[in-house]
Amino acid sequence: MKGIKRIGLLTGGGDCPGLNAVIRAVVKTAILRYNYEVVGIKDGFDGLIKRGKTKRLTLKDVKGILIKGGTILGTTNRSNPFEYKKKVKGKLIEVDISDKAVETIKNLKIDVLVVIGGDGSLKIANRFWKEKGINIVGIPKTIDNDLRATDMTFGYQTAVATATEAIDKLHTTAESHHRVMIIETMGRYVGWIALEAGIAGGADVIIIPEIPYSIDKIIEKVSHRSKRGRSFSIICVAEGAKPVGGEVSIIEKKGIGRAERIGGVGQKIADEITQKTGLETRVTVLGHIQRGGSPNSFDRILSTRYGKAAVDLVHQRKFGEMVCLRTPYIESVPIEQAVSKFKAVDPGGQLVSTAETLGISFGR
Ligand code: F6P
Repeated sequence: MKGIKRIGLLTGGGDCPGLNAVIRAVVKTAILRYNYEVVGIKDGFDGLIKRGKTKRLTLKDVKGILIKGGTILGTTNRSNPFEYKKKVKGKLIEVDISDKAVETIKNLKIDVLVVIGGDGSLKIANRFWKEKGINIVGIPKTIDNDLRATDMTFGYQTAVATATEAIDKLHTTAESHHRVMIIETMGRYVGWIALEAGIAGGADVIIIPEIPYSIDKIIEKVSHRSKRGRSFSIICVAEGAKPVGGEVSIIEKKGIGRAERIGGVGQKIADEITQKTGLETRVTVLGHIQRGGSPNSFDRILSTRYGKAAVDLVHQRKFGEMVCLRTPYIESVPIEQAVSKFKAVDPGGQLVSTAETLGISFGR
């Protein structure tokens, strides 16, 4: 069996706080513990397709990056080598150019590719492992926390803290102006950020994709508060929320080489509240603020543990696996298991029922 000398490292999909902390942990563990070389691949899988997008990573390169947001390697959520966007005769089509990526991996003499990614990037990574025989180790990232097989993805806790801080700020202005304030969080098709930030920020209504909402129930809650002299309300809504019998609000439909863009449900709810009650309503779409900035201490620690454990997996030759958190331990699972289905909020679970006991409405 050929010994491992060089590992490749890439960050794929949307960025999130903690990526640099993972990169640092991977590089330090690889060099200091196992004497591996590390090749950084820029801009996700794009770096395996285009020329001049790789760089040897040394200890010097990762100095001081623990607390930095973003990723020093760059990333993209628009570059899947198996479904690559190409213009042919003026028309955009999807082509499979994964063999080109395999060629780059071979040319660079990369023995194992460590992929830091969410659902999309890990699915691609798993195809390289299963279909192309590339040795892969995965590390779960995403602010959405929607990956199965891990208690938590890194980046999520920082996003929740950011959203909570925003709710705190909206509270004071809502109270002063006697307004209904709606805050729309990210999270794609799951409601983790809205649920936890909503609870932490003391929201009156939390709307998540897992519990389709009735606008009448939301209005009932807001009106009830107003009748009791609480002249303001805070509604925390996940971007993927949908009304009973309705659909998710889409900003941009799925296109060649890119996923659909979700958003707009906050404004939709606001318009209906204003129309039906006359209450003054304002919407704040938190957007990419949730993905930016320095990771909090929880994410710095989780990222560091994931990075170190991923290189241990490389050393143990446990390929096709992803590191995961099974509190309090870092373990590993087949990537396939993690990407087979979203990890959604349980509408009948403890967290939701605790919130409901405290009077938070889920619009149901
Ligand atoms: O998956 C992370 C995420 O931030 C989602 O919460 C959001 O729907 C999406 O990415 C936004 O993607 P983009 O950066 O392409 O707008």
